[in-house]
Amino acid sequence: MAATGETSQIPQANTSARESRVATHSHIRGLGLQEDGSAVVGTGSAGWVGQTTAREACGIVSDMIKLRKFSGRALLLAGAPGTGKTALALSISHELGSKVPFCPMVGSEVYSSEVKKTEVLMENFRRAIGLRVKEVKEVYEGEISELTPVEAENPLSGYGKTISHVVISLKTVKGTKQLRLDPSIYESIQKERVSVGDIVYIEANTGAVKRVGRSDAYATSFDLEAEEYVPLPKGEVHKKKEVIQDITLHDLDMANARPQGGQDVMSVMGQLVKGRRTEITDKLRGEINKVVNSYIEQGIAELVPGVLFIDEVHMLDIECFTYLNRALESTISPHVILATNRGMCTVKGTEDSGGDGIVSPHGIPTDLLDRCMIIKTTPYSKEEMKVVLSLRSKVEGLKLGEAALDQLAEKGANTSLRYVLQTLTPASILSKNSNRAEISPEDVSELDDLFIDAKTSADFTAATRQPHSS
Ligand SMILES: Nc1ncnc2c1ncn2[C@@H]1O[C@H](COP(=O)(O)OP(=O)(O)OP(=O)(O)O)[C@@H](O)[C@H]1O
Ligand SMILES: [Mg+2]
Repeated sequence: MAATGETSQIPQANTSARESRVATHSHIRGLGLQEDGSAVVGTGSAGWVGQTTAREACGIVSDMIKLRKFSGRALLLAGAPGTGKTALALSISHELGSKVPFCPMVGSEVYSSEVKKTEVLMENFRRAIGLRVKEVKEVYEGEISELTPVEAENPLSGYGKTISHVVISLKTVKGTKQLRLDPSIYESIQKERVSVGDIVYIEANTGAVKRVGRSDAYATSFDLEAEEYVPLPKGEVHKKKEVIQDITLHDLDMANARPQGGQDVMSVMGQLVKGRRTEITDKLRGEINKVVNSYIEQGIAELVPGVLFIDEVHMLDIECFTYLNRALESTISPHVILATNRGMCTVKGTEDSGGDGIVSPHGIPTDLLDRCMIIKTTPYSKEEMKVVLSLRSKVEGLKLGEAALDQLAEKGANTSLRYVLQTLTPASILSKNSNRAEISPEDVSELDDLFIDAKTSADFTAATRQPHSS
């Protein structure tokens, strides 16, 4: 959510981009549940293989989150490495949809030399709380009947032409109005992929362009189409309109941390694009909470609690856990999902005071565990691993032979699913190097000579008794 910046694309070059970058969880697109909440097995499982109980449990939790009945507690996903905990959490975010903020983080992120641990947590908490603001804005709205960029000679270079202004005609039921707009607005028009026949509105103050949909005068008779058709707007082109915007509390913090911050939400919005990083203080947050609360009371804004997902939660220390406990109690709190692959272990930060420290399940103090609903992920059988492996090789565009698949699944049973999934790409390189059409047992064996898994590596280093730091 935070990391995907909008980039302007060259129109012809966007066809092959999708397959070139493959993320580890790209084959999973949700929890794969039926209407009645039971897990789908086989086609329609959204990429999932097995793990049915955990998926069904996650389905219940995501329903509770949708009903906003999950506040004040946390969900803990516990299980062996590579059993799909991170994938489950991401699936929950899929189920919740794009309107609910989802902020993923890893436990070790809190350790930074510049910022306090609790500060990092606080920031992420606020990223996971959304605010839906209704504002009345001055806009120009209508169907585009003319869209002409007017070019001018560029005085700086001999060849290029620049756009000096854009002429747009907007049509409503009442009439048509021609606007002469700044070239910067033309850029946002291109970004929104607006063309003649679309219904748009342009904010008078900021020049932001929003595409509402395609005019229904252009509607076709196809039943299945991605396009949304909307009727021609009534009323004047230039009017006041209620606009709904989704932002997070962190966006508000950032916008207001800038020295010259406006007091109303409207001027804050305008600043969001020019984010320059300045300190966000507790005092500032307090003030923002006050403004937000008053907006909520007035009915201008609505709070949308999202999800904060802390992966590898055993990396947090006692100070962070204490903070988490308190933050869960507060009235403005997101839903919290934790994940860990540890069993009994020492709670970080308790061993400093001498002795062994506090040993607790999953390295989480018991008072926080008390607030958790725990979902267990189970290890995979060889058959299940086979299905995931062939699914994954399809997603990555690799050819995997039946015998090699068998061998890999066997190996996965002794190591982990994660390990064998990671060996797919290097194995495919080996097979290509030896001019084989698909990954075959030879490649898998060769890979065994080149790389070792974590357990073998640990056994090996222990056996040679030569610690790396002597
Ligand atoms: N049941 C499943 N069906 C399909 N793919 C799965 C399943 N379980 C795990 N995977 C895939 O296996 C890989 C490892 O899973 P994931 O990263 O979720 O494990 P994890 O439980 O978070 O492990 P760790 O404890 O090491 O963080 C991912 O690519 C994930 O998408
Ligand atoms: Mg994980």
